[in-house]
Amino acid sequence: MFLNCIFLILTYTCCVATAANDLPDNFQRCRQKDTKLNDCLKSAVPDALRKMKEGIPSLAVPSMEPLKVSAINIESGAGPVVITQNYRNIKLYGLTDTILTTYKADLKHHRLRTDSLTPKMEFIADYVMKGRILVLPIQGKGIANITMLNLVVKHDLIGEPVTRDGVTYMHMRDYRVKFIPQRVLLHFSNLFNGDKRLGDQMNAFLNENSELVFNELKESYEKSLSSVFQDVTNKIFDKVPMNKIFLED
Ligand SMILES: *[C@@H]1O[C@H](CO)[C@@H](O)[C@H](O)[C@H]1NC(C)=O
Repeated sequence: MFLNCIFLILTYTCCVATAANDLPDNFQRCRQKDTKLNDCLKSAVPDALRKMKEGIPSLAVPSMEPLKVSAINIESGAGPVVITQNYRNIKLYGLTDTILTTYKADLKHHRLRTDSLTPKMEFIADYVMKGRILVLPIQGKGIANITMLNLVVKHDLIGEPVTRDGVTYMHMRDYRVKFIPQRVLLHFSNLFNGDKRLGDQMNAFLNENSELVFNELKESYEKSLSSVFQDVTNKIFDKVPMNKIFLED
């Protein structure tokens, strides 16, 4: 009897644990057939992001405020900005204040396109860098603060249906982003081995030329952050069946 009980308990936990997950109860749901599906998603997605401030432990979704990224390495080749940059212990602040300005869901083709606006996104990280900007050499090791104001991001999510145990998931196989910040503020502590005068001058120079500097580095940031966004999206989309994210009736 006792063994039977244990057996029952084990089977029970086994099957509950492997059953398909659902979105947290407090998430807004949108219906596939809703003629206003895009409007529904435009409000549901940022609402979900705000509810993910502390992450979703049951789906292993990490905290979104801040969103932590382990490392980004950037080799910027030719052109006026040639810098090798290594960032570690990256924290992104401000993503949960994002709103969406447009949403275009094409569920038949597993494609989601949306434009977001983040009033202030701070990228704070330990950095090491070496290179040159225009004719000026730059090197340092300290804390970087790259702040983007009124950041418009164009997201293009390209998914595909994946069926497991007869259940269909919408796996995102590609996630493309374009960053269009209204303004970028840069600050690198401890440039030139802590030489304050040179460091202050370089930080002032970087901010006067922030458009040039950012444009040269933009593609690397976009590539790195799109893979972070893709991972977070797939944490949910690979575990929650498509018809529980986009309700069928
Ligand atoms: C980063 O820079 C922005 C803009 O200058 C500033 O508002 C913010 O407080 C800084 N963040 C940190 C952690 O230093």
